[in-house]
Amino acid sequence: MIGLLDRLARPFLHALDPEDAHGLAIKMLKFAPLPPPPRDDKRLALRVFGLNVPNPVGIAAGFDKNAEVPDALLRLGFGFVEVGTITPKPQPGNPRPRLFRLDADHGVINRLGFNSQGADAALKRLVARAAAGGIVGINVGANKDSPDRVADYVQLIERFAAVASYVTVNISSPNTPGLRNLQQASVLDDLLARVVDARERIAPNAGPTPVLLKIAPDLSLGDLDDVVGIARSRRVDGMIVGNTTVARPPNLLETAIAKEAGGLSGRPLYPLANRMLAETYVRVEDVFPLVGAGGIDSGATALAKIRAGASLIQVYSGLVFRGLGLIAEIKNALLEALEDDGQDSLKEFIGADAAAVTAEPWPK
Ligand SMILES: Cc1cc2nc3c(=O)[nH]c(=O)nc-3n(C[C@H](O)[C@H](O)[C@H](O)COP(=O)(O)O)c2cc1C
Repeated sequence: MIGLLDRLARPFLHALDPEDAHGLAIKMLKFAPLPPPPRDDKRLALRVFGLNVPNPVGIAAGFDKNAEVPDALLRLGFGFVEVGTITPKPQPGNPRPRLFRLDADHGVINRLGFNSQGADAALKRLVARAAAGGIVGINVGANKDSPDRVADYVQLIERFAAVASYVTVNISSPNTPGLRNLQQASVLDDLLARVVDARERIAPNAGPTPVLLKIAPDLSLGDLDDVVGIARSRRVDGMIVGNTTVARPPNLLETAIAKEAGGLSGRPLYPLANRMLAETYVRVEDVFPLVGAGGIDSGATALAKIRAGASLIQVYSGLVFRGLGLIAEIKNALLEALEDDGQDSLKEFIGADAAAVTAEPWPK
């Protein structure tokens, strides 16, 4: 059913403007009568951030920005869904066109700029599905015109903690001017102190909501030292490595589209994202788990991401080029790797190659 829907829809979606195609995909998910997913093999289950995750394959933030279809996404077989980025107030984002496909490179450039229906709309939807179960995290960000960006994050944690499996503090979008400055040491320390404090304050009512930090793959290693040090000292529950890159690898084929401003994702992001994940893993020293995102588009790249240090992985751009079959392909590849290795849990793979990856020449 899912395979058929996917095969019929994909050529059509590819013929459309990328943002129209995305809007249509959300509509289809809203109305498609999807069956419940087949039960995952229990060897794919992991306990991460205090959550029981049925399989490690998640959908990254930015696909379901307004929490319209989290349950449809769970039914497609994702082990967890991250909705958002949500901002406190609604905002339109940047003018269109702002989403571009680099077909020959299997890459995407976006400069959406946190187009968001705002917290009220998303909250209403998450409250309505709160009893449905499944792991649904929310990714939060600051409004572009906010006079106090830290206060935006604090209020979103307070409002969403009770209905979200986890909250991701997104300070790494390249498309909100100045947002990534929140990754600077003194600012980040204050931000995380206040965010974690807000989480503790509401925990008696909302329960223990894990707080994750999502970083850019463009940090220098010196900055990464600081960011990991602060994340550890402020006791965040995990990090997502990472967001899109403002870099443009020299070997891109779609040279004209590559000049568009925005964050690059998909296959061309993979080498940098994987390296930054491994660099983060060796600095975190198992104090908290990591989520790996960036360029996963096959079973092999998913497994390599786990071996570079990810407990969980997220996909987005890969779905555009490979379709929904990618979800099952990854799960099957992971099970095959477990069989080959005689393991009954993915735990043994997590970070197994991290040190080796950090010893490679820096990816171009
Ligand atoms: C169209 C688009 C929109 C995105 N929007 C967000 C967002 O709102 N918040 C966020 O944290 N990341 C966002 N991302 C980044 C993804 O969550 C992910 O970190 C990144 O694309 C790398 O994964 P991928 O190579 O599998 O796409 C977006 C990515 C794309 C392609």
